[in-house]
Amino acid sequence: MGKFVVEGLKRLKGDVKISGSKNSALPIMAAALLTEDECILENVPSLRDVNIMERILRSVLVKTEHEEKRDIMKIKADEALFSADNNELMGKIRASFLTAGPLLSRFGRARISLPGGCSIGSRPIDLHLKGLAKLGAEISKEFGVVELKCERLKGAEIYLDFPSVGATENIIMAAALADGVTTVSNAAMEPEIGDLCSFLQKMGVEIYGKGTDTIKVVGCRRLSGAVHQVIPDRIEAGTFMLIGAACGEIRLDNVMTEHLRPIVSKLKEAGVEIVEDGESVTVKNMGCIRNTDIKTMPYPGFPTDMQPQFMSLMTLGQGTGVINETIFENRFMQAGELNRMGADIKTEGSSAIIRGVDRLTGTNVRATDLRAGAALIISALSAEGTTEISDIYHIERGYFKIDEKLRRLGADIRRVDQE
Ligand code: EPZ
Repeated sequence: MGKFVVEGLKRLKGDVKISGSKNSALPIMAAALLTEDECILENVPSLRDVNIMERILRSVLVKTEHEEKRDIMKIKADEALFSADNNELMGKIRASFLTAGPLLSRFGRARISLPGGCSIGSRPIDLHLKGLAKLGAEISKEFGVVELKCERLKGAEIYLDFPSVGATENIIMAAALADGVTTVSNAAMEPEIGDLCSFLQKMGVEIYGKGTDTIKVVGCRRLSGAVHQVIPDRIEAGTFMLIGAACGEIRLDNVMTEHLRPIVSKLKEAGVEIVEDGESVTVKNMGCIRNTDIKTMPYPGFPTDMQPQFMSLMTLGQGTGVINETIFENRFMQAGELNRMGADIKTEGSSAIIRGVDRLTGTNVRATDLRAGAALIISALSAEGTTEISDIYHIERGYFKIDEKLRRLGADIRRVDQE
């Protein structure tokens, strides 16, 4: 268990390379279960969640090798088991449930530990199960395990009540080996879904409507291995853009600017200077942030995974901003910690009112979840004095060596053991 110790108010300047996307790597690692051939994934960072997903694959006898120096993950599911019911391991990450669709589709059966909720919400899987049932799965739940059975899945017309990212991914992966055509309407359109579809197409799946809310999958009998480079992490990029907006001038390399539209738009509204240049974007603090309103929405709306970080930025902004969090029911946990640093945030249900203050001061704070932890880093960098952030394992789930990247930009941040 570690903590970060940060001396605030340093002006940051320099370049940072954005790593591969956690939320793209995880479903694509699960999709490698669909074939017995080897799959080679590039740009896969050694994040805590990626390492846990790798352990999950190994728990069902899948061969994996992660060359961490080159961010290359090799996966070969030539003799996988259908049963991923190691409760302790599967309960560590929600993405463990993304093994359900591939295992069911490949083996006609899957036993998967029920994923728990997490601090940001209950995070049910009803939409996943409803979609898999439409494909023909018989589903039972007992002792914390979901059992899904179907000799051979059959393509179907599926409408998602909500454009759930995980449900869209699970259904598409299951449909890849189903008999016939599956159409998913009201599908999630996050870039990570498009990246998963690109990987499946390389494996031999016919997919139409990639990047839209209606995706058609033509199932086939067998898929082959593939080599695929995972897209850059748009949320890591967004987080560093906000750090630049708060603390100096940062150039981000290895980004896909088309995935950053909602973040760029909001930062420009707040008076931040942004220069896009191919696969790089430079963000510069222009002295003061004008507070604005945020409503989180499914892509291409403003991403919920950037909401805590933006709340942080707004604590030192001019005027008042209102955040409406429409995706998760408990995603304001950073507010209490930020208020302890001198912020003025009032939360009421799914809304938060942020009144800008002149300064934040360092103190001991605790990361409660991944993106709330990122928000605390932004505020620690912007506060007077020393801030100690504990429980940083939450942060290391989704940010590869963030302290090293920040030190290279001039930040005074160090990682110490948490007593
Ligand atoms: C993915 O989670 C991401 N995780 C999340 O990122 C992200 O916040 C979320 O999508 C929304 O963009 C990964 O990709 C690994 P959802 P997921 O299914 O798939 C409800 C991060 O910080 N819902 O789109 O779990 C659910 O309760 C993480 O990197 C149902 O009701 O998100 C939530 O309110 C956090 N029933 C909403 O939909 C279901 O069956 C969005 O969930 C499924 C979801």
